[in-house]
Order: sequence, then structure tokens, then C-alpha cells
Amino acid sequence: MAKLKLTEQQQAAVENRGGSLLVSAAAGSGKTKVLVERLFRYVTEDHCHIDDFLIITYTKAAAAELRSKIAAELSKRMAETPEDRHLRSQLLRVYQADIKTVDAFCTALLRENTHLLAQEGERYTLTPDFRVLDENDAKLLRQRVLTRVLERFYEELDEGGALLADTLGAGRDDSALEDLVLETYEKLQSHADPEHWLAENRTIWENRSGDFDETPYAAELLAVIRRKGFHHMEALRRAGQSTV
Ligand SMILES: Nc1ncnc2c1ncn2[C@@H]1O[C@H](COP(=O)(O)OP(=O)(O)OP(=O)(O)O)[C@@H](O)[C@H]1O
Ligand SMILES: [Mg+2]
Repeated sequence: MAKLKLTEQQQAAVENRGGSLLVSAAAGSGKTKVLVERLFRYVTEDHCHIDDFLIITYTKAAAAELRSKIAAELSKRMAETPEDRHLRSQLLRVYQADIKTVDAFCTALLRENTHLLAQEGERYTLTPDFRVLDENDAKLLRQRVLTRVLERFYEELDEGGALLADTLGAGRDDSALEDLVLETYEKLQSHADPEHWLAENRTIWENRSGDFDETPYAAELLAVIRRKGFHHMEALRRAGQSTV
């Protein structure tokens, strides 16, 4: 098989050293090839080991594919230079190397380091035998916590809380309030520090000066109300026409 010649850009990406490097190119244009070549460059020139690297992919399938591509490249190179002992010593390492999804990497990192995490009395908050909740278990747990949160909310109901409950039609039915809490919780999770973000926004709202009408939220709300109004007006107009 003829040896594949890298393009100039691929070659530059393979040789680049020392900083962050982003390789962005069309599907099938040779990104993985660059990654594998880069890896072997470090192995042969800098005497690195394959398991010195952390290689993250998006899916388990991609991780398995990448591992097999690296293993195939290693076999090819070993056939070319059978006397290279450093290369040969990578054979076992390929299968131990951290080539995995970010989820798998984080899970392993946590499992190996639970003893460094916070303790509650004698117990660690996380033990190495933890498992990641699946969707259904998580849903049940969330529902249980939600029930408890709402119980406490009603027990400690103040004026603002009562207003919120009334506005959302609670008393008759909690579902609007439940949905709001869950939705807010989920959106909060996209912030690096949800508690901090929440506290910051609470301050902003408490110190807000001027009319609500002048906030961007009011403009957004009014636009939605206007759109809905027009929609229903149009529907009524059409209904009126068809019955005449
Ligand atoms: N310079 C090159 N000359 C010839 N063939 C190449 C070159 N670079 C890559 N290829 C070949 O093109 C095919 C696709 O390459 P590769 O898998 O690296 O692309 P990719 O950008 O990672 O693709 P994807 O977007 O699907 O992940 C492979 O068979 C690879 O060997
Ligand atoms: Mg690829």
C-alpha cells in the first residue's frame, strides 16, 4: 500500500506544538488521521507513551473506533520497524489508554478520588461504588424532592409566595407551580454556578428601579401577549365568517 501523503495543512497540524490547537474541517477530510499522526509523532519523537494522553470523543462508538485506528496504526508501524522496542511497548498501553467519552472520563476520575471529596461526619459524600442515575431513577428522585420542596413552600408561605401560588392557579392544582420549579431548576443547571447565578439575579430584581413596563422582560411579555391576541382575533374572525 502506498504511503499516504498528508496535505500541507494536515502536516502543519501534526507538527504544531506547545499550545492549544483547534482542527476544524469538513466530514471525512482527515481530522482523525491528523490526530493519530500527532499522537505517533509524540510517541516516536518525544518517547511519550500512548497512555500518557487523554483522548476524549463524543460517543462510545467513536472512542472504540479511534482506539482501533490507533491500534491498527501501531501494528503497521511495528511491522515497518520491528526492532523498535519503545513502539512495541505501546501494544498493551493502547488498550489501557484514556480514549473515552467525557462522561466515562469524569466517572473514572471521581471513582478514583472519592476520598478527596467532602465528608459528612465519618462518611464521604461519595463512595467509589457510586453509579450514575439512569433517566427513570432520576425522574423519581426529582419528583420526591419536588414534593418535599413544595410542602415546605406551603408551610412557610409568605405574601410573595401566596401571590405566586395564586398567580399560577395553585390550590386547585399544583402542576403549573411544579412545572415552573422543574423548568427553572433545569435551566439553572446550564450555569457553572447555579446558586451564585440565582443569588445575583435575586439582587438584580430586588434592587430594580422604575416600572416593570420598562424592563426587557415586559417588552418580551407584551410581544407574546400581542401575538396571542392577534392569533385569537383572527381565529374568531374566521369562525364568524364561516357561520354566516
Ligand atoms: N492526506 C490524505 N491523503 C489521502 N487520504 C487521506 C488523507 N487524509 C486522510 N485520508 C483518508 O481519508 C479518510 C477519512 O479520514 P479521517 O477519518 O481522518 O477523516 P475525518 O475528518 O476524521 O472524518 P469524520 O469527519 O468522518 O470524522 C481515511 O480513510 C483517511 O485515511
Ligand atoms: Mg474523524
